[in-house]
Amino acid sequence: MEHSFEPLKNDLLLRAAWGQTVERPPMWVMRQAGRYLPEYHEAKGGRDFFECCRDPEVASTLTLQPVERYAGLLDAAIIFSDILVIPQAMGMVVEMVDKKGPHFPNPLQSPTDGQYQAVLDRPVNVAEELDYVYRALTLTRKKLAGRVPLIGFCGAPWTLFCYMVEGGGTKLFAQSKMWIYKYPEETKKLLHKIADICVEHLALQVKAGAQLVMVFDSWAGELGPASFSRFSEPYLAHIAEKLPGKLKSMGLDAVPMTVFPKGAWHALDSACNLGYNVVGMDWLQDPVEAVKIRGSRNVVFQGNADPGILYGTKAAITEAVEQMVKGFWVGNKGWIANLGHGITPGVDPENLKHFFEEIHRLTKA
Ligand code: CP3
Repeated sequence: MEHSFEPLKNDLLLRAAWGQTVERPPMWVMRQAGRYLPEYHEAKGGRDFFECCRDPEVASTLTLQPVERYAGLLDAAIIFSDILVIPQAMGMVVEMVDKKGPHFPNPLQSPTDGQYQAVLDRPVNVAEELDYVYRALTLTRKKLAGRVPLIGFCGAPWTLFCYMVEGGGTKLFAQSKMWIYKYPEETKKLLHKIADICVEHLALQVKAGAQLVMVFDSWAGELGPASFSRFSEPYLAHIAEKLPGKLKSMGLDAVPMTVFPKGAWHALDSACNLGYNVVGMDWLQDPVEAVKIRGSRNVVFQGNADPGILYGTKAAITEAVEQMVKGFWVGNKGWIANLGHGITPGVDPENLKHFFEEIHRLTKA
């Protein structure tokens, strides 16, 4: 082993993710280190978002903020980074525009544009390009001192591909659809290359200290069932298939793997067969139905309250928690409590505290 870290005092997340019976559901929320926290703005100051990601001291401070604020409630930390560090490592320029989101000044236009071939041909030294992520993970693991497990992550090939061809957020997905329906083979070549980089990035995150890894397919819901099975699922499966062997070859123990195919409710059944220990879902999925679809498979669910409930009353939050608990919490296993997507700016941090407290209260044996 490269590093020696303090043993975990709270390993609930890992036990639950492996499918074990646990005393209560572990809980955390996506984007828990973010703009709804006043201390986030304070620590970030006027700095650029990616500059914060590249500075291990700043990234670890931001990662720890929710762990400290919600001490005793929160069961995981997730490294402060972004899914778009992979396109950057592949040689693309990505900027984070304040209040607007990511922007690629030069998105991939078509397979005949020289940039596509250049990105495809360019060897990527992941360890070197993303070294700052690994240093941030190692420093964060040290600072956590075993309080809770540390989650590493990457974007799914399909979602990263969308950003690389759209150049940022979009409502139409016109470029992405043009690529898949006009140039399916060229698209698949790029998806495959991204998937291999994902495997390497996740393995190096584990080596640096990540104890569970999650793949975010935020745009999965833009594809219908047939296209999802062609352009997203094979690459998600590729990651789940390759990562354990890669870890083994590096002398590292396996870690639980989570996939979050946001919006692809139609594919829940097949998502349970992709090779991941945990399947995340958004609030379009009914918990009772989801558990029925899972059947007897040893897959753990993660989610899925509408992040928008945190703009509501405490009573509304309680009701949303009750619905999740009723559906997901069967036999003291199989559920990691979370929101159905990232927590949004403008939420009162006290409401997130109430969300956590209600999960505790309603799942007490
Ligand atoms: O606390 C955490 O969840 C850890 C850090 C984290 C960030 N991004 C930090 C961040 C994680 C896990 C992500 C993943 C991510 N990044 C996804 C997948 C999850 C999802 O939300 O679907 C996506 C699609 C991105 C790309 C991205 N990064 C977008 C679209 C944006 C702008 C929109 C937004 O929510 O701000 C970002 C910026 C970003 N990533 C911020 C943070 C804290 C906000 C930056 C700021 O303005 O301070």
